Amino acid sequence: MDQERLLRELSEFLRIPSVSTLPAHNQDCRAAAEWVAAQLRRIGCHDVAFLGGDTHPVVWGQGPHVPGAPTLLIYGHYDVQPPDPLAEWTTPPFEPARRDGKIYARGSADDKGQVFCLLQAINPTNPHVNFRFLIEGEEEYGSKVLFDLLKREPQRVRADAVLVADMSYVAPGWPAVYTTLRGLCYAEITVRTSQTDLHSGEYGGAAPNAHEELARLLTRLKGEDGKVNIPGFYTTVKRPSKAELAAWKKLPFKEKDFLTKRVQGKGLVGLKQYSVLERLWALPTFEIHGILGGFTGEGAKTVIPATATAKVSMRLVPNQKLATVERQLAAAVKRFAPSHVTATVRFLHGADPAQIKIDNPAYKLLDQAFKHVTGRGTVPARAGGSIPVVPALASAGAAVILTGIRLPDDRLHAPNEKLDLKQLWDGIEVFSKFYEMLGSQESGVRNQESGLIL
Ligand code: BES
Ligand code: MN
Ligand code: MN
Repeated sequence: MDQERLLRELSEFLRIPSVSTLPAHNQDCRAAAEWVAAQLRRIGCHDVAFLGGDTHPVVWGQGPHVPGAPTLLIYGHYDVQPPDPLAEWTTPPFEPARRDGKIYARGSADDKGQVFCLLQAINPTNPHVNFRFLIEGEEEYGSKVLFDLLKREPQRVRADAVLVADMSYVAPGWPAVYTTLRGLCYAEITVRTSQTDLHSGEYGGAAPNAHEELARLLTRLKGEDGKVNIPGFYTTVKRPSKAELAAWKKLPFKEKDFLTKRVQGKGLVGLKQYSVLERLWALPTFEIHGILGGFTGEGAKTVIPATATAKVSMRLVPNQKLATVERQLAAAVKRFAPSHVTATVRFLHGADPAQIKIDNPAYKLLDQAFKHVTGRGTVPARAGGSIPVVPALASAGAAVILTGIRLPDDRLHAPNEKLDLKQLWDGIEVFSKFYEMLGSQESGVRNQESGLIL
């Protein structure tokens, strides 16, 4: 492996600030899509195309035809989260920097580094399987283009297996496959208490204050004990089986280390009667991401704000449904807001939770590939994060494989995101081995979908 060349190529990709949620970066998202398209052409894809509406395109490609071999769809995303707060980065987010065996850049772990890994693992002169690619540019913003595309053209996801490498090891040395992803319901809650802002001397004491009302409303939605008080919220939540909970106890996860090394805070919160892993993986959440409005400039201004908005989201678990939770939140806000407050909810995006069966023969091959390269096979785990399109991929019938080469401390969405280079080099070997085994006659994954679909 020419590691220097690979790092130069990956760095090119990481230098493109493809932040999907900020319109100022639309051109950059386009450039990242072009970069992916060029890579797909390099590995021999014949009908590389940009699909979707006028937003960031989904990059599609089909690898060379391998008669009789299974079809493997590779899903990933080239968009990244905003890099702020910039001052906290040791080196700038879009100037990839190498330090102590790691590469630091926004997108290094989520998900450009992993997309790069899956592509580099392909041998263009002998691809072993029929590759198809859907690499999107709006994963971090709810995947609307891809959902619309799959509605129009469901045949795009026909495959024997779908490989989604946007996940992490459960701990260093412990590769994993995932059986669930949490869903997401992202909303803005706005309260209005008067027509305009008011002088806090002239009106204070009698006029309602939007920020105060919003704060109260938010604490009604979730109590100090960590319980979400939206009526009906937990009704369909399914607890993991005893066997699954027992298996989690054997994972290399220590609640104390999670607090001191990962969170680096003073204490954990949430529903204390459940283990931390259960809180992270199998229980729904309610989080406040930011509160807007009022006076936040330098100095002091004596004002009663007329409006306040909170950006919030809920993580959803099996068997909650996004559509139901949206209704539940809207009803709860209406119910908890006093009559002197106008409260409205606007939904920005969301995703259903995903539940994945890991009984397809392809899982055994991946397990063997990891064991061969890293010395340890995959353990089943669950994930707290969301990948909106996964339920749609799974319902199309192919075996979806959620895995990845990241480490839990890669700081996704945060300053100083990084990828350990050893993880990348191992990953390239793991996936090339996996492709090779998948394509072999004895793999047990026979092609139900061979041939070209367009
Ligand atoms: N790669 C993550 C999802 C993820 C994170 C899976 C952690 C497992 C563990 C993905 O890029 C992501 O960040 N998704 C967003 C989706 C949302 C913006 C619709 C998320 O989970 O917040
Ligand atoms: Mn991701
Ligand atoms: Mn992400």
